[in-house]
Amino acid sequence: MITTGKIIKIAGPVIIADGMKGTQMYEMVKVGDDKLIGEIIELEGDTATIQVYEETAGMKPGEIVESTGGPLSVELGPGIVGSIFDGIQRPLETIKIKTGDYIQRGVDVPSIPKDKKWKFMPKIGKGDKVEGGDLLGEVQETSSVLHRIIVPPNISGTIKSIVAQGEYTVEEDIAEIETSKGVEKVQMMQKWPVRVGRPYKSKLDPDIPLVTGQRAQDTFFPVAKGGTAAIPGPFGSGKTVTQQQLAKWADADIIVYVGCGERGNEMTEVLKEFPELEDPKTGKPLMDRTVLIANTSNMPVAAREACVYTGITIAEYFRDMGYDVALMADSTSRWAEAMREISGRLEEMPGEEGYPAYLASRLAQFYERAGRVKTIGTEDKVSSVSVVGAVSPPGGDLSEPVTQNTLRICKVFWALDASLADKRHFPSIDWLQSYSLYVDSVEGWWDSKVGADWRKTRDDAMVLLQKESELQEIVQLVGPDALPDRERITLESTRMIREDFLQQNAYHEVDTYCSSSKQYNMLKTIMMFHEKATEALDRGAPSEEIIALNVKEDIGRMKFIPESEFDVKVKEIQDKIIKQTSEV
Ligand SMILES: Nc1ncnc2c1ncn2[C@@H]1O[C@H](COP(=O)(O)OP(=O)(O)OP(=O)(O)O)[C@@H](O)[C@H]1O
Ligand SMILES: [Mg+2]
Repeated sequence: MITTGKIIKIAGPVIIADGMKGTQMYEMVKVGDDKLIGEIIELEGDTATIQVYEETAGMKPGEIVESTGGPLSVELGPGIVGSIFDGIQRPLETIKIKTGDYIQRGVDVPSIPKDKKWKFMPKIGKGDKVEGGDLLGEVQETSSVLHRIIVPPNISGTIKSIVAQGEYTVEEDIAEIETSKGVEKVQMMQKWPVRVGRPYKSKLDPDIPLVTGQRAQDTFFPVAKGGTAAIPGPFGSGKTVTQQQLAKWADADIIVYVGCGERGNEMTEVLKEFPELEDPKTGKPLMDRTVLIANTSNMPVAAREACVYTGITIAEYFRDMGYDVALMADSTSRWAEAMREISGRLEEMPGEEGYPAYLASRLAQFYERAGRVKTIGTEDKVSSVSVVGAVSPPGGDLSEPVTQNTLRICKVFWALDASLADKRHFPSIDWLQSYSLYVDSVEGWWDSKVGADWRKTRDDAMVLLQKESELQEIVQLVGPDALPDRERITLESTRMIREDFLQQNAYHEVDTYCSSSKQYNMLKTIMMFHEKATEALDRGAPSEEIIALNVKEDIGRMKFIPESEFDVKVKEIQDKIIKQTSEV
């Protein structure tokens, strides 16, 4: 039954309505004459507090509020991949076609196309027993995504009927399932409330890395598939570029990119650039595996609060098909600010720096939806949702509440540093501050798939970098000439690690992506230089001559060698290191 109430008060994105008896917490409602979408966030007797996902200016008390009977949900089915949605899953392109560049309020557009026919290939037959998560059939949604149509989580029974291979819309019935409560008709589209995590059987250890093609991350501070990572960094330090690099190159089947409260032009860049990019592994368009959710700073604040939930629910849905999904949220600080603004309008008791007291639990609930899981369903599928959130601490002060609460939850910390960015050391990941708690768990993968001494090579390089920072203190005091020869060799090697390995240019055709094996061999080569140079020194070779060896230049150019030529060329460089260091 539809409840109709009346607006009694309007405070920015929050309105209060009475006559709302019979509605539920988190129910979606249509507010005012323009039927703006809203969500009940407080309910006391007859009176509901509602956050409205569109601009409320011009709305007046007395206008009506209609219930819809269900919570704020997303539509899940073919038609999601390649789309660009706003925070409540309205497709921006369709809105634009309908209303022009300036988004009109209350525009009613379907989240995924309802008239498009998809070629559905059934994968089960009449009489088969199924449960939530089981495969009903497949749709080749894009060139790279095979959309698996699965039984919705809460249904189990026997297939009474299933349609033949053919073309169907997402709303047409494709199967009937005889359940203990009667016959359920199933369509390709499911709905799911965004604030509720989709079920899974169990969580597994995240011991496979999400390979991002970014050396500083993969080699030094890896994130695992199903893991969580935070990228805090001051203004302009490279958070967005880092997120976009992951969205482009991470070895996930599906990417969900949530642009949350950032400037419109950053999102425009993504929207312009992404459709032109190719997946390095398949050569297919990257958009064919990407879902973009854009809620820029000029869009309503309540929809920003919702956009991360919309994103993670879509991510979980593809996870349930057996895929590895990676979600980037840029920036979770803007999300937290949306929470703060709404909480302020509700006149809730503010916590630290005006953020609501539930900031920590909301952040935790969001990141907890990441994980590597055994999915529901008869067949055991293992899949994952990895979450990488950018954090923009005001003034770069990491002690502020959003950063602190995020760091308590996330297992990887990529600390972006303003002074590195100023020196154009990109990505500006501070190697002494950053950490990953997945190094132990992904070690097995690297050692077995890439190189048996991956862990040792990485750790040795890390030790050198730590040593460098100690040496630099001495250099500051007494100057470089006072350093012993061995230390000068160390500084030469660490310069190579920093400049020739850690620095990676996102805009360079080759350097933008570096395979795991290239990363490993690059670092091995630098560490080999260090070893051979130290040996030469021990034999009595003068340090100036070792440091002047021209193989240094080859090492500096390693990153620009295309993957296809790399194995041959790196071998030549290693031979040259051996030759030159033995001849000094
Ligand atoms: N990996 C990289 N390679 C090359 N240049 C980079 C890289 N990362 C960042 N930059 C440079 O730094 C600039 C700022 O980066 P970015 O926009 O990602 O910062 P941000 O932290 O998102 O800033 P804001 O706080 O404004 O959102 C980029 O425009 C680019 O010039
Ligand atoms: Mg940014």
